[in-house]
Amino acid sequence: MNFENKTILITGASTGIGKAVAQKLLNENCRIILIARRSVLVKEYVDASLIKKNAPLIIKCDVSKKDEVASAYKLIKEKYERIDIAILNAGVGHTVTTKNYNSFYAEQTFGANFFGIIYWVEQLLPEYLKSRAGMIVGVSSLADNRGFSGSGFYCASKAAASIYLEGLRVELKSFGIKVLTVKPGFVKTPMTDQNKFKMPFLLPADKAAQIIIDGIKKEKRIIQFPWQTVFLTKIVGLIPGSLYEYFASKVKMK
Ligand SMILES: NC(=O)c1ccc[n+]([C@@H]2O[C@H](COP(=O)([O-])OP(=O)(O)OC[C@H]3O[C@@H](n4cnc5c(N)ncnc54)[C@H](OP(=O)(O)O)[C@@H]3O)[C@@H](O)[C@H]2O)c1
Repeated sequence: MNFENKTILITGASTGIGKAVAQKLLNENCRIILIARRSVLVKEYVDASLIKKNAPLIIKCDVSKKDEVASAYKLIKEKYERIDIAILNAGVGHTVTTKNYNSFYAEQTFGANFFGIIYWVEQLLPEYLKSRAGMIVGVSSLADNRGFSGSGFYCASKAAASIYLEGLRVELKSFGIKVLTVKPGFVKTPMTDQNKFKMPFLLPADKAAQIIIDGIKKEKRIIQFPWQTVFLTKIVGLIPGSLYEYFASKVKMK
């Protein structure tokens, strides 16, 4: 697949991975739609890019709110006939321990990381099913296979996203609709800049964006990287629960 003349939606386009993907797509011959709550940040880098041809459509939208996603989709349909590829990347990651425990973080995390995908799929599906074409790229995480201390809400939201995307991939296969799951390891972004622990095999956002774009072009079912973290998380996933919990409980949260 190539991006020539395609219409591509990216959520979470104001910072980090979404911004890096968007900046690369600004140089491709495609139409892009950029979604974030801080749409001013998107406008700043789009203006700075001096791209005049195929200026992106920038929409302020909170993806955890079903009505805002529906309104954003309506705006898109006024300008474009269809969306060919939807990169559903918006997400949040809070460290929540016994010290700051509050269900608000769970609501916000599931709102963006899980429902932020569900609400967009709800809008896209009728058109995709009618045309028997289209691609959904959901950004999950390699943190989807175990519960890590202080990241319970985040890991649970990503496990939910990965399992949901897998089910969707199976169901939509016979309709010619592609569902891809992106599972990054640690990537340097404002999200991980808050982490106080050492992040192994940390990648620059620009490199992560290129891997994601290459994976989409190859229509890879699962785009996971870097290989070292993929390998480590596979091993951690295979360890019996009791053994995992013994060692994981030795890691002290700050
Ligand atoms: N960085 C990593 O190491 C890593 C690893 C695995 C997976 N991921 C996943 O990659 C994705 C991007 O993360 P990132 O690292 O690039 O983080 P980031 O720099 O914090 O970017 C997150 C993006 O999501 C948007 N967002 C968050 N909540 C939103 C909401 N309710 N409505 C609309 N947009 C929302 C933010 O925009 P606004 O705040 O302007 O709305 C921002 O553009 C996330 O799904 C994350 O879980 C990241």
